[in-house]
Amino acid sequence: MFTPVIMAGGSGSRLWPLSRQSSPKQFLDLNGSGTTLLQETLARLQGLEHAAPVIVSNDKYRFLVAEQLRQAEIESLATILEPCSRNTAPAIALAALGLLQHGDDTIMLVLAADHHFTRPQELHQAIEKGLPLAEQGKLVTFGITPTRPETGYGYIKTGPTLAEDAFSIAEFAEKPDLATAEHYLEGGQHLWNSGMFMFRASAYLHELERHDPELLTHCKAAMTSCTQDPDFVRPNADLFSLCPDDSIDYAVMEKTDNACVVAMDAGWSDIGSWQSLWEVSDQDSSGNVALGDAYLHDTHNSLVHAHHRHVATIGLDNHIVVETKDAVLVAHKEQSQKVKDIVQRLKADR
Ligand code: GDD
Ligand code: MG
Repeated sequence: MFTPVIMAGGSGSRLWPLSRQSSPKQFLDLNGSGTTLLQETLARLQGLEHAAPVIVSNDKYRFLVAEQLRQAEIESLATILEPCSRNTAPAIALAALGLLQHGDDTIMLVLAADHHFTRPQELHQAIEKGLPLAEQGKLVTFGITPTRPETGYGYIKTGPTLAEDAFSIAEFAEKPDLATAEHYLEGGQHLWNSGMFMFRASAYLHELERHDPELLTHCKAAMTSCTQDPDFVRPNADLFSLCPDDSIDYAVMEKTDNACVVAMDAGWSDIGSWQSLWEVSDQDSSGNVALGDAYLHDTHNSLVHAHHRHVATIGLDNHIVVETKDAVLVAHKEQSQKVKDIVQRLKADR
């Protein structure tokens, strides 16, 4: 038995112009399936025995979270609303502290809300393999065999075998530079960190106490004086604003000697960019992914989203075209990581 904890407070800027500050990617139905990434994250757990989920998001997304849970007929154990973004290490600490305040030193299955799986059954098996290790007090993460020198992920060097498909972690390196990522890929000893974690609430807080006591102190103070109503838990805004900004990967996973990894082959991907959305979507015989009122002529290997107007393309190869009410993106598919630079510029210009 475990408690899913969904981190749903990120901004998803590389999926602009669809993903916006006011409605980031986790709240969007990106492939026209009728469900959002947040709803899919929870639906994917169906069939596993688990407690009601905890959602950790930002105060500005409270209506989106509440509405999407209601639509999916999911009742959360708690929805924690951060008054400002401080990245994932504090977000997970708030959830762990909230659970312990209720005397519940449960096993938390911490999930990102921006992942896609083509074989969710394999994910279920990996979770079941991770459970006994988390019960022993370990910090479990889930590893993927790398296929390219991706610099946006964490890399895990596997150590001795602990159980079937489970290894201790010899080294954890978050977001290495390209040369290091290429070196890891060639060496064949590293897995990607999938960004999902499993541990007892107390085990995470214990590691945080060892490696970043300041961050933990601020989270504890903010949760001790939180306010609660039937719908939301709100950590104290003044106290939480003092908390340093850090991800679980840098704050804990790179430093702890108590972590292990369960390797899985579940068709995992992080829907981080338009290119990755194209990769995980059903492509037609020309390699295109079209959504809405789009007419594609002599167009190949491209993604075209028409949300408000008719969009026609001729002679495109490897392109992204995303039309929304007030903005249009036209980009080369292989440069879709750079969309976040545009978003930075747009923010700076305002
Ligand atoms: N509540 C909350 N608050 N959630 C947050 C915050 C925050 O301040 N910041 C990010 N999140 C959520 C995002 O919405 C997403 O669901 C999840 O936390 C992960 O954040 P990302 O910003 O997408 O992380 P990343 O992709 O750069 O890196 C992580 O995931 C990679 C795999 O996708 C790391 O764990 C890497 O090591 C990993 O390889
Ligand atoms: Mg991500």
